[in-house]
Formats: sequence, C-alpha cells, structure tokens
Amino acid sequence: MTDTKFRPRRSCLYMPASNKRALEKAKTLPADTIIFDLEDAVAPDAKEEARENACAALRSGEYGNRELVVRLNGMDTPWFAADLKQACESRADAVLVPKILDADEIIRISDLMADRNANLDTKLWAMIEMPQAIMNLGAIAALGAQKRLTSFVMGFNDLAKEMRAEHDRANFGSIMTQTVIAARAYGLNIIDSVYNDFNDPDGLEAECLEAKKLGFDGKSLIHPAQIETANRVFAPQPEALAEAEAIIAAFKDPINAGKGVIVVNGKMTELLHFKQAKQLVATSEAIGSLAK
Ligand code: COA
Ligand code: MG
Repeated sequence: MTDTKFRPRRSCLYMPASNKRALEKAKTLPADTIIFDLEDAVAPDAKEEARENACAALRSGEYGNRELVVRLNGMDTPWFAADLKQACESRADAVLVPKILDADEIIRISDLMADRNANLDTKLWAMIEMPQAIMNLGAIAALGAQKRLTSFVMGFNDLAKEMRAEHDRANFGSIMTQTVIAARAYGLNIIDSVYNDFNDPDGLEAECLEAKKLGFDGKSLIHPAQIETANRVFAPQPEALAEAEAIIAAFKDPINAGKGVIVVNGKMTELLHFKQAKQLVATSEAIGSLAK
C-alpha cells in the first residue's frame, strides 16, 4: 500500500512526546515530518502521559501541513497495544514501529491497524535497526505492495549496539545501499538515521549529502538546529533543476517529437531522463507548496 501522492520528507524531527515545550515549538518549525516519540526518549514513568500528549497534539489541528508520525513502544512492551490503538484513533499520518524483526510482525501490526482504523489513513513505518531486519529486508519490503507499510527509517544507534560495532558511519554504507534497494523495489520511502552531535552542522551536512547520494528521501533529526541543513541538502539543487528544465523543454520541442534519445547540453539524454527530470521538478513544486 504505497503512498499515492508524493510528499517531501527531507527533515523528520523526533521529539520526546513527554516534552510539552518541544511539542509546542514543533508547531512553528519547518520540519516536513514530526515524529512524536513514545519509545526510547521517554522514561517508563512518563509513557502514559507522553501518549496522551502525542494524541492531543494529533487532534489539535495546530501543526499545519506537517506530516505527523508517532513512534510507538516496541511490540514486546506493555505499552504497545494502547500506543497503536490511540495513535490510529487520533489519526496519525503514520505509526513508526521500532525494532521490527521480520515480515510476520508487519502483517500482525497491519492486521491490528485494520481493526483500529479501517479507513487505511494511518500508514505503517518500520524502523530498520535490528540485525534480523537486515537479514529479512526483502521480505519486509515486499509487504509494501499490499499492506500499509510505506516507509523505512534507519536506526543506527540501536544497530551499532546490536552489532557490537562502533558507531562509525563507514560500518553502515553497505547496509544503507541494501536497504535503499529493498525499499525502492517495492515503492517505499526511506529516511536516514539521526546524527547525534547536534552542535556539529558540518558533520550533519556530510551525512545528509551521503544519504542523498545513495537515494534516501531525508534524514531523521533530533534538534531544531538540524532542520535547515536537511531541508537544503535533500531539496533539488538549482543546477539540477535547471538541467531538468532543459531536458523537459528539449523533449517537448516539436523537432524531437517521437524521439527516444536526444542530446541535451552535450549529453546523451533518454526518455528515462525525461521522466526523472519531471519527477525532480514535481519534487521541487511539492516542497514549494509545503511553505504555503
Ligand atoms: N523538537 C522540538 N523542539 C526541540 C527539540 C526537538 N527535538 N529539541 C530541542 N527543542 C527545543 C527546546 O525545547 C528548546 O525550546 P525553547 O527555546 O522553547 O526553550 C529549544 O529547542 C532549544 O533546545 P536546547 O536547549 O538546545 O536543547 P536541550 O538541551 O533542551 O535538548 C535534546 C537536547 C537532545 C535532549 C533534545 O534536543 C531532544 O530531546 N531531542 C530529541 C530526542 C529524541 O526524540 N530521541 C529519539 C530519537 S533518537
Ligand atoms: Mg532505536
């Protein structure tokens, strides 16, 4: 069940749903997606209150056209069932389920969501942060064609811990590529992991650039100071847009009618590039319309 309409997800900002000040601030922040966290950023004693805050925020109608996602507690916790039920009833755009292991879990959650919210409005996003999920990527992603699953979100803090690896980006390059391929094979969106050092804009920018090159849609963020960088890097760049517009104009030129391959700015340009160019312009327009 892939999203039918494209929407930008350059910047996906987590916030502990127990932090009312952050929830309030998010109403004015230019993040494409807000993720109200009920899981690791919330202490056990604050779980119920955080869930209530998140649901009140979902129902408030005060977040403009930001996409609103709730990260639930894991399926094996005492909070999961109520988290899922209430997030669906409060019409979250999506629920993000942590520590997914395999395709069976996606089926179970989708079935529970069908009970809670028969209208299919609330989508399912899966955290890819467990070694088992990496082993099962293809089978999990394949459910994107028929279940509510629409997005993967990388979680390298947990994955490094589970792998007993150092949290060094070099350890995750092949996993990022593998996960992009699995996601794209079934039309899923894919969001990169967080950058923990929120006082280091250069390090954040380097990770955004790397992820964008690999095909990611955007980056998970933890602090408002990170939003501008992600929004800038994951948006189509002016040079790329100018090139796309030249390709579109060339294919629309009657002189090229019926041709499958032409030369634009000295480069071989095929119909697939025409399609890509139109997609880039549509992405840019979608970003523009978010600001309205
Ligand atoms: N979302 C929205 N607002 C946030 C925010 C966030 N993730 N992080 C900080 N802010 C707000 C603060 O509330 C503060 O607002 P104010 O100006 O109204 O007082 C302002 O931004 C400045 O915050 P700052 O003092 O720089 O940060 P901090 O020391 O209070 O918090 C963190 C630092 C890391 C604890 C905090 O950014 C945070 O909780 N991030 C998200 C963590 C999370 O959700 N993790 C789960 C996924 S890995
Ligand atoms: Mg995690």
